[in-house]
Amino acid sequence: MDYLTVALAKGRLGEQSAELFGKIGIGKSLDLNSRRLVFEDEENKIKFMLLKNSDVVTYVDNGVADIGIVGKDMVKESLSKVFQLHNLSFGYCKMCIAGEKGKTVYRNNAILKVATKFTNSAKAYFDLKGQRIQIITLNGSVELAPKLGLADVIVDIVETGSTLRANGLEVLEEMFDINPVIIANRIGYKFKMKQIDGIIAKIGELERKHDVKNI
Ligand code: PRP
Repeated sequence: MDYLTVALAKGRLGEQSAELFGKIGIGKSLDLNSRRLVFEDEENKIKFMLLKNSDVVTYVDNGVADIGIVGKDMVKESLSKVFQLHNLSFGYCKMCIAGEKGKTVYRNNAILKVATKFTNSAKAYFDLKGQRIQIITLNGSVELAPKLGLADVIVDIVETGSTLRANGLEVLEEMFDINPVIIANRIGYKFKMKQIDGIIAKIGELERKHDVKNI
């Protein structure tokens, strides 16, 4: 059997993914505290790669990884055509438009200034709504932008809402739900379907057995 290559995101999502694999008896060699970026599970013939969150889709889309676990926000943002095989039941959050309290989002013909790192998702969303926008691309600390007059609103991920609150902002509109998803390369999936489907079936079984918060 060929090795299956799995792309995981560093950070919280990677930890949750490793825990999930551990519970179905996969990836015992994964040590997220080490500096290593590649881990082999010889027993199950799986090679794990630890990547930056925003690079997981790129590796899977290009076939360097067969499957990956990444937030739906990243899949949408990438505009790639990877298969989305299975929604995972942890790490639930939302993509939102946020701004200062009472700020109007829709402004007839006026241009709305939107600060975000999710530029494609923001463009697609406001396009559908018929609101003209100017995108201000930022890579972090987007919450500062409305306060400092750089943008009218931000588009960002909201989980608990505490980052917004701490910066005097609130959700003005929820755009779409986000959860981690198992993605697969379109060609790789055809060749390794049995192995991939086997893993997903085990995860599904685990999800059915447990309260999702305990996975
Ligand atoms: C996201 C997002 C917010 C925060 C929201 O950042 O950009 O800053 O989480 O979470 P909350 O609603 O629970 O406060 P993340 O931690 O994913 O890291 P990032 O700075 O790389 O975007």
